Amino acid sequence: MDIIKTYQEFAQELERVQSLSELENLRIKYLGRKGLINSFIKEIATLPIEEKKVKGKEVNDLKNKITEELENKKEKLLKESQLKETGKRYDLLLPGRKLWLGYRHPITKVLGEIVEILVAMGFEEKLGPEIETEWHNYEALNFPEDHPARDQIACFYLSDKYLLRSHTSPIQIRVMEKEKPPIRIIAPGRVFRPDPFDASHSPVFYQVEGLYIDENVNFCELKGTLEQFCYRMFGNDVKVRFTPSYFPFTEPSAEIAISCVICESKGCKTCKNTGWLEILGAGMVHPKVLENVGYDSTKYSGFAFGLGVERIAMVKYRIDDIRLFYENDIRFLSQF
Ligand code: PHE
Repeated sequence: MDIIKTYQEFAQELERVQSLSELENLRIKYLGRKGLINSFIKEIATLPIEEKKVKGKEVNDLKNKITEELENKKEKLLKESQLKETGKRYDLLLPGRKLWLGYRHPITKVLGEIVEILVAMGFEEKLGPEIETEWHNYEALNFPEDHPARDQIACFYLSDKYLLRSHTSPIQIRVMEKEKPPIRIIAPGRVFRPDPFDASHSPVFYQVEGLYIDENVNFCELKGTLEQFCYRMFGNDVKVRFTPSYFPFTEPSAEIAISCVICESKGCKTCKNTGWLEILGAGMVHPKVLENVGYDSTKYSGFAFGLGVERIAMVKYRIDDIRLFYENDIRFLSQF
């Protein structure tokens, strides 16, 4: 029973082990039931008591050492085979990587809310093209050629015939040209105007158009519908104000404002100290427009409205510069 020699042999054999099955064979050779360690233990039993104590401790230490080294080797082999399989190294001590979640753009979010409210009120969503004809953008909407009202809703021309729509109202015409009353639609979309790019203007922005045409539609319905919209969008405490306005395609026309939700009508930068925020243009559809699409204007009437999505988002989220929506600054966008 040469403890030292046994350990040296074990160490050499362990060194040569390359697989888990070889390792298991080595374990059986030394630690198995009929293994070397057990044969030593049997031998010890025959020794005189003094020697028994000394040898017993030596064999026990050897057994512990072999057990530990077999374990270490096993771990090493397992790790290597895992590395081979995945080709990756795992550092389990590294903190996990946070998943990067995108956010809805505030305009998309507010647009979704506006559409949801109006669809719940019975309007159906329609879309129209961004490239429009003069007929749809102006003429059919009762803007005569060379009329100064065209400047109010000026556009970018692409050619003599085509332009980028400067409001969503041409979608009114497109829907009425195709369908017969009753019509109850909303039409969200991007519009383009030769405007400066400053804190309150952008050459590209979003609108939502609304149109309701049937027999005997009156101004009360316009008022009730838009008041309800404002309550649902900004809360029941908000005050809604209608003032006369002018659009060639509506008569009478109105500008709709809500009491300033930022300063509670005390006067601030956003409401320009008036206590009111203008958010909508609206009116009763002009008989000329109805005739232009072949409707009998003595039989049908209706109302239309158009709202600016950025404007509503700015009021809702207290944003004082429209350019922030288009700069794609993650620090801004991740707040919503
Ligand atoms: N199209 C108008 C604008 O862009 C808004 C509007 C729509 C007004 C419908 C009345 C009715 O300013």
